[in-house]
Amino acid sequence: MNWDQLDWHILDRLREQFLRGAPGDYWRSAADLANYDFTFAQRIGWKWDAVLAELDRLGWRPPPGPVLDWGCGSGIAGRRVCEHFGLAPRRVFDRSTLAMEFAGGERWRGQPPGVLVLSHVLNELRELPAVIEQAEAILWVEPGTFADSRALIAVRETLRDRFHIVAPCTHRAPCGMTGSDWCHFFAEPPKGVLADPNWVRFAQRAGIDLRSLPYSYLVLDRRPFAVDGARVIGEPRRYKGYAKALLCEATGVRDTMIQKRDRSLKTIRSGTLLTLP
Ligand SMILES: C[S@@+](CC[C@H](N)C(=O)[O-])C[C@H]1O[C@@H](n2cnc3c(N)ncnc32)[C@H](O)[C@@H]1O
Repeated sequence: MNWDQLDWHILDRLREQFLRGAPGDYWRSAADLANYDFTFAQRIGWKWDAVLAELDRLGWRPPPGPVLDWGCGSGIAGRRVCEHFGLAPRRVFDRSTLAMEFAGGERWRGQPPGVLVLSHVLNELRELPAVIEQAEAILWVEPGTFADSRALIAVRETLRDRFHIVAPCTHRAPCGMTGSDWCHFFAEPPKGVLADPNWVRFAQRAGIDLRSLPYSYLVLDRRPFAVDGARVIGEPRRYKGYAKALLCEATGVRDTMIQKRDRSLKTIRSGTLLTLP
């Protein structure tokens, strides 16, 4: 696949499908998956890169055992996770046989996974996949909208008694996100993408902002894992000499002023883990 081979009828239909969230299998051909994998899935891959980098910062390592990419689509998420940690085998499952064929890897036959990968699938589900109960660890990435974030928080609340929370939460207490706030972060595209005429044309035509890759995520592990500090939610607001950020910690979520004298303000970004004085 290359930029000249893109089929905009397919991309428009898929985008419409994702926006409407209409039920049913929408993969009609291998070409659907190839077009998706070359474009929309790459943006999802950049969100995964941000999550995997944060897991490295936290010193988290996956448990042994196979990786299962459930609801794999073209397979971008499972591939990213396996490549990042050097894991194998990569197993795939999707209601679409076409998707499983495109995603490659081994077909999942019900074996318990070491790492269960879920990506951009929650708003298509009527119920949570039962395989969650068999997984040692779960890596889950969703879009960064209010609705998707809140849906993922609801999942967190049902699972936090059985799993330790690796990220983004710094605690296992009930989620403190209330009101109009939502738990989301921003990933960056790789260097060069914003200046790449193909990506720029794609973004204009698809009506998406390449600079802003909002996502929400949840990483769970059966093994004990503790994180100290407060997590910056969303984008901090910068002012002269101070910044304001929504910080999440065990005692709740609060809008906090961070003075320049406390910390270099440049280092505070979406998702930063702060140790507060
Ligand atoms: C938006 S796509 C995301 C694909 C891929 N995970 C990614 O991040 O690019 C959602 C995928 O979930 C699959 N899916 C939706 N409901 C499912 C179900 N009940 N069982 C298995 N797969 C499902 C769809 O067929 C589709 O491939």
